[in-house]
Amino acid sequence: MVKSVEKKCVVRFEPSGLKTEVAKGSTVLEAAHKVGVYLSSVCGGDGYCGKCKVVVSDGHFKSRPTGLLSPEEIREGIVLACQTKVLSDMTLIVPKWHRLEAGQILTDSDAKRFGDIRGDTDEGALELDSLIQKIYLELPPPSIQDHTADHERLYLGIRESIDAPIIQTGFRVLQKLSPELKKTDYKVTVTVGSRGGTLELVDIESGDHSKTNYAVAVDLGTTTVVAHLIDLTIGKTVDTEATYNSQISFGEDYIRRIIYGEQNNAFDELQNRIVHDVNDLIVTLAVRQKVDLQDITACVCAGNTAMVHFLLNLDSTGIRREPFAASAAFVPAIRAAEAGVQINKRGLLYCLPGVAAYVGSDIVAGVLATGMNNGGGISLLADIGTNGEVVLGNKEWLICASSSAGPAFEGSGVKHGMRAGSGAIEKLRITEDGSIEVDTIGGGHPIGVCGSGLLDVLAELYKHGMIDRTGRFYESDDKRLTEADEGLQFQLSPPSEEHSEIVITQADIDNLIRSKAGVFSAIRALLKATQLEPEDLESVYLAGGFGNFLDINQAIVIGMLPDVSRDRIHFVGNTTIAGAKQALLSRKSFETCETIAQSMTYVDLMSDASYMEEFVRAKFIPHTDLSLFPSVEFDGIGTTN
Ligand code: FES
Repeated sequence: MVKSVEKKCVVRFEPSGLKTEVAKGSTVLEAAHKVGVYLSSVCGGDGYCGKCKVVVSDGHFKSRPTGLLSPEEIREGIVLACQTKVLSDMTLIVPKWHRLEAGQILTDSDAKRFGDIRGDTDEGALELDSLIQKIYLELPPPSIQDHTADHERLYLGIRESIDAPIIQTGFRVLQKLSPELKKTDYKVTVTVGSRGGTLELVDIESGDHSKTNYAVAVDLGTTTVVAHLIDLTIGKTVDTEATYNSQISFGEDYIRRIIYGEQNNAFDELQNRIVHDVNDLIVTLAVRQKVDLQDITACVCAGNTAMVHFLLNLDSTGIRREPFAASAAFVPAIRAAEAGVQINKRGLLYCLPGVAAYVGSDIVAGVLATGMNNGGGISLLADIGTNGEVVLGNKEWLICASSSAGPAFEGSGVKHGMRAGSGAIEKLRITEDGSIEVDTIGGGHPIGVCGSGLLDVLAELYKHGMIDRTGRFYESDDKRLTEADEGLQFQLSPPSEEHSEIVITQADIDNLIRSKAGVFSAIRALLKATQLEPEDLESVYLAGGFGNFLDINQAIVIGMLPDVSRDRIHFVGNTTIAGAKQALLSRKSFETCETIAQSMTYVDLMSDASYMEEFVRAKFIPHTDLSLFPSVEFDGIGTTN
C-alpha cells in the first residue's frame, strides 16, 4: 500500500519576512493566521468583504473567481487571501493598509483629556483600598502566655490592618505559612485579595515586600487591547501600552469570531490569541518599568461580554443565538494562571461584571468612570464603537441598550474605510469652490478614511447638496462623481503615481447612514421608554476611540447625536480602562460595578417594535422629524450649521 504524503509549502509574507509551512491547498489567510500576520478579514474568510487583499510576488496558487477584484488589481497580482489556495512555496506582499500601527488607540493618557471625569484615580479622588494588597506585619511570636496557632495569629494581624470579616487560606499557603513566619521572627508580608465577600490570603513572604505591589488593568476591546500598569502602593499608573486584538483575523466583530470558533472548533485558538495579546502587553510594561512579573499580583479586565468569554474560554455560543444568554455575567475572581495570564503565579484575575450578552463590563466600567450613577441629573453615555451601546440614567435608575449599529464608522463595510492609523483621512472639508481639503493622520498621502473622516464625508456631502436626505447622490456634472461597477461613487482624493484614488461609494454611504441611525434610534428608544426628551439630558458622554475624535457639530448635522447644547457633550475617552482602574484601586468601586450591573435595565431593541420604526425614521439625514434638530439650519437642499 502506498501512503500518500501530505505536501507542504512554505509561505512567506513581506515586508515582515515571517514565514510558515502549510499543507498544499491551504488558503493564504490560513497561512497568515498560522504565522500571526494580520490581514483584515471583516467577513471572517467567507469571501464577500474584499478586505483580505494581498499581492502574490512568487509561487503557484489557485483563486476562486470573485467580483471583488478589478481587472487592474488582478493584473497587479492582487488576490483575496481567503479565496486563494497555496499550491507551491509562495511569497506574498502584505499591503500597507493591513499593517497595524498604534495610531489613535486610546490608552489612557487620554484620561488626561477628560480630567473632569470622576474616575481619574491618579488625582487621588478615591480612597486607596485596592482589590489586592500587600501588608507588612510584625506579629508577636508565640510564647507560654500566648500560644495562639500561627494561622490564627496571622488572621488577627491582618484584621488589625484591613476590614476582613471572612478570610480564607488556600492549602499551599497554609503549608508554607509557619516556615515563612519563623524565618524572620514573625515579620512577614501577606498578599490578600478580595474574592466576593471574602478575603483570600493569596501569599505570604518573610520580610517586608509591601513596597512592591503592582497590578494591570486591561481594556479587552474587540479591535484594540489596552493595558495599564499600576503601582498599587500609591495608586498610580506607571505606564500604558496598547495593541490591536490579534483575533481580528478571525473576523472584525465578535459575532464573526464566535461563528469562526463554532465552525472551526477554534475557541481554544481564540482564547490563545487574546491571552497572548494580554501577556504581550504585560511583559512589555514589566520589562520597560523593570518590574518583576511576580510583583504583579492582580489583573482586572473589562470588555464586552464576548471578549470576556473568549479570555476565559467560556462557552460564547449563546451570545449569538436566541434567547441570547451568556455563560456568565458575573465572573468570580480566579487565579490568573488558570487562564494563562502571566503575572504572579498565585495572582488573581478579575473580570468586571456585565449586564447582558450585548452590554458587557466595558459599559459598566463606563458608567462607573463617568459617575453617571451618582448624580441626580439625567446623563447619557454613548460608546460608539463596533456596537454602539448607550446607557441612560442617574443615581436612581439606569437603562441600557446595544444598537448593533455595525462598525461602518470603524471603517468596516466601507470601500476605503480603515482604522485610525497613519495615512487615514481624519478630517475632511468641502470648501466653497467645491474642492476637498483633508487632514491625514501622520500628515502623509491619504490611503483611506477613518471614523471621524467618514463622519465628515457624510456631513459635508450633505451640507454641500451632493447627497439628498436619504443619502442618494444627486445627479451632477461634477467629474468626481462617476459610475463604477458597484454604482455611483465620489472621488475624495485623486490617484497619484504611487497611490490609488480614494472614493466613497453609494453603498458606503448607505452603510454609514445605517450605523448613525442605529446609534440615534437606540438613544431615542431609551428616551422614549423613560418619557424623556433630549433637553432633559444634563450630560452626554461620548466614549470609545471614535467618540474621542469626532466633530460634534457634524455628528449632530447627520443626526447621529441628539441636538443638545454643545457644552453638555463631553468626550470621555477610554472609560473602559478608567473604570477598570477605579474598580482595581477601590474595593468599594468594584462593589459599585456589581450594583450597576445588577440594577441596570437592559432593553432588547430587536424585540421592541417601536425601535424598528425609530430606526427607519433615523435613516434620513438628519431624521424624518426635523424638529428634533432645532439648532441645525436647513436650506432645502443641504444643511448648514
Ligand atoms: Fe477574504 Fe473577507 S473576502 S476575508
